[in-house]
Amino acid sequence: MSSFDRSLTGEVSGDLGQEWAVSPQAGDEERVVESALRPHSLHDFIGQPKVARQLALVLEGAKRRGRPPDHVLLSGPPGLGKTSLALIIGSELGTAVKITSGPAIERSGDLAAMLSNLAPGDVLFIDEIHRIARPAEELLYMAMEDFRVDVVVGKGPGATAIPLDINPFTLVGATTRAGLLTGPLRDRFGFVGQMEFYEPAELQQVLARSADLLGVELTDEGSAEIAGRSRGTPRIANRLLRRVRDYAEVEADGRVTREVAEAALALYDVDHLGLDRLDRAVLEALVGKFGGGPVGVATLAVAVGEEPHTVEEVCEPFLVRAGLLARTPRGRVATEAAWHHLGRQVPRGGIPLGRVSVDPPGAGASAEPLFDA
Ligand SMILES: Nc1ncnc2c1ncn2[C@@H]1O[C@H](COP(=O)(O)OP(=O)(O)OP(=O)(O)O)[C@@H](O)[C@H]1O
Ligand SMILES: [Mg+2]
Repeated sequence: MSSFDRSLTGEVSGDLGQEWAVSPQAGDEERVVESALRPHSLHDFIGQPKVARQLALVLEGAKRRGRPPDHVLLSGPPGLGKTSLALIIGSELGTAVKITSGPAIERSGDLAAMLSNLAPGDVLFIDEIHRIARPAEELLYMAMEDFRVDVVVGKGPGATAIPLDINPFTLVGATTRAGLLTGPLRDRFGFVGQMEFYEPAELQQVLARSADLLGVELTDEGSAEIAGRSRGTPRIANRLLRRVRDYAEVEADGRVTREVAEAALALYDVDHLGLDRLDRAVLEALVGKFGGGPVGVATLAVAVGEEPHTVEEVCEPFLVRAGLLARTPRGRVATEAAWHHLGRQVPRGGIPLGRVSVDPPGAGASAEPLFDA
């Protein structure tokens, strides 16, 4: 059991596969709440100006030609709005969206059945498409290119493939790991939207919209406070808003002001950069026990009583992105910003990060000392 509650930051923990598979039933409480907050049109979709504008053109062009648009790949970290955009594509086109996910397609026959059941112009949304099994992926090539699938009849040497026409459709794939996509699959997408983290001002718009939908009174300062701690991620912003709302209703008059947001987020252990208890524990251990590093991730994990892969997959990406931690060939190093963030004095002489490669460990180990002896 982990001693830390990751529920607030929505990061994965434990078995990644379990958490990232999109379950068809809305068993998970958060998915239900999320669907109520999803934007339903491009007009409602906040931020991602580049992807949204390009996509608007792709969709408009297709509508004018009366043909389904190119296949669309949406890639980016969790919680930035890939599923929301996929559903918006369907509603903008006025077509049905059939939803599945890479791990859910176990046999290519399942995919063939799904493809041949699509009505003309339908959108097929495959979430976590990088996890699709190889035979299904190969079936997808022909479906995407020629709107045909091969149905295999018989077994062994006598088996024959009968090509079957399917209705023209648009495939929308979403992935958090675009690098794991094979070349042939990636090449078959006519449009690739790379989702970016959101600016605080955009998150404030997301929060204002969600507050409206939830019937919460949210002041500008309250929303700035929440947005600043949301790690550039609408999902986290919405989650923090719900927690702060609970606090506002129970401990205050229901209005989410800056004071209320600050008090609530302090209670939930989310600091002003959006670090939670485990993130801070990692930095504290790095700085307090190992003099700022370099230290191996396994040692660091033991120091905070967590699994190495939790530290590596759950904490580090954001700590690195926030410029608080560097991954070096010799181990993890706390940056000057980390010392400042923990309210500690930076060691004399500073942190010689300039001489450290920020490559992941193992990538060309450098013999250069990180600290002067
Ligand atoms: N641009 C946006 N405007 C308003 N709300 C948004 C936006 N993007 C995301 N959200 C909110 O964040 C929640 C999470 O978004 P979504 O499920 O689309 O993310 P995702 O990229 O598909 O994440 P995952 O990779 O985990 O599947 C949505 O329920 C929605 O309420
Ligand atoms: Mg999604």
